[in-house]
Amino acid sequence: MASDATIAHGKIDHAKKSLVHDPVEGDKSKITLVKALGSFVWDDQGNRYLDCTSQAWSNNLGANDPRVVEAAIAQLRQITHARPNFNTPALLELTAKLREISPGDLNRIGYTLHGSLAVEMAIKLAYKNHPGRHNIIVLQDAYHGRSLTTMAASWPHPNNPFLPIQPRFTRVPHPDPYRPRLGLDPEIESQLCLQLLEETIVKGVDGGVAAIMLEPIPGNGGHIALPVSFLKGVRAICDKHDIVMIFDEIQTCFGRTGAMFGSDYFGVIPDIMTFGKGVSGGFPLAGIMASERLKGFETGEDALTFGQFPVAMAAAVAAVNAIIDDKLCDNAREIGAYATQRLHEMAQNRALIGDIRGPGLFVSIELVKDRQTKEPATRAAAEVYRRGVERRVLFGESRYAGLGNLIKIKPPLDVTKEDMGHALDVLDEVLGSIEADGIA
Ligand SMILES: Cc1ncc(COP(=O)(O)O)c(C=O)c1O
Repeated sequence: MASDATIAHGKIDHAKKSLVHDPVEGDKSKITLVKALGSFVWDDQGNRYLDCTSQAWSNNLGANDPRVVEAAIAQLRQITHARPNFNTPALLELTAKLREISPGDLNRIGYTLHGSLAVEMAIKLAYKNHPGRHNIIVLQDAYHGRSLTTMAASWPHPNNPFLPIQPRFTRVPHPDPYRPRLGLDPEIESQLCLQLLEETIVKGVDGGVAAIMLEPIPGNGGHIALPVSFLKGVRAICDKHDIVMIFDEIQTCFGRTGAMFGSDYFGVIPDIMTFGKGVSGGFPLAGIMASERLKGFETGEDALTFGQFPVAMAAAVAAVNAIIDDKLCDNAREIGAYATQRLHEMAQNRALIGDIRGPGLFVSIELVKDRQTKEPATRAAAEVYRRGVERRVLFGESRYAGLGNLIKIKPPLDVTKEDMGHALDVLDEVLGSIEADGIA
């Protein structure tokens, strides 16, 4: 395997200047990946890494699972493209499968290729169902993507150059169980945030609210599960004011939390749910599941040329079946519990660990300079990533609003206990070396 990677090296043009996404000349920070299998990736130098990022938390099923690869190849031989006015067997099969496992009555499915566009589809559907209402409410630490609209719906981007042409969203505070405001009891803070939310709906906006959109666990904004009381409270407020509740489940879908969807994990059913990332075994696919009570789109309101890519859909059928057949929700719960227990043990010796978060394999730790003040240890987090790479383990970092003191440990859901154990051994060693070097 290493030799494949070595052969690939040399064919690859490293001229970073040619990429609009990476204008830093001579930037050596990006690894060039040439191969992936299960929980591992290989670079162009033949190095193998244990991938605790699942490549943007998308390989819920380990990379290049043969069932997915075979399904995609078989589909390639049949039909690779059909415009949205047509069905394909892959689309029909996937839709039937998703309807089978969707929470509550979220039985109307829509597809696109990127999470950001799935979020936009959900927003459009909410407006479609509440014509004349002008506002969408989002949470202050939300992350919903990087299209113009979803970037505006996310936490304020420092020096955002796109502001003049972005729509405006209303951002509201949400509970932070790790740093509750005024040191309040987290449950009281949850109630306070619900009260502020309702006041915003009634007195804080002009033109009515079409939807409240939130991630059950803000994945790029703290990575901290919202209290169930808050999610249930938002549901009740949406019912009371006839507002569409949208869960952005692009990170929490398909087993990552140890339940099939975040909605199942928290026991709260929204009116629209987005999905993406883990659905398709590494192929581009995302979409929404919407309540049967909502009106759908009419011709021309939501159609993208490649939005129903049959190859990604065939891959998704195989990936979703594999997640179910291999009982990966159970594995996520089991290995996630093992990881968080080991992290609690590690925290006894590693003062940098301020907080340990789950559930399932939605695992992260927040690094702090001091457990009392909870001041973020941003430099230490950057070092964990760097020293992890040296030891051939890829940890996830968070760059949220420039804070970046989170380390995410989110390998594929079929990771073995042995591999997770190795990642944690490396983390412990790396944290020890960082503490010894006095970096925080
Ligand atoms: C919660 C959430 N919503 C939306 C997106 C955007 O998805 P994509 O990058 O596929 O457009 C992401 C991506 O990280 C996400 O985490």
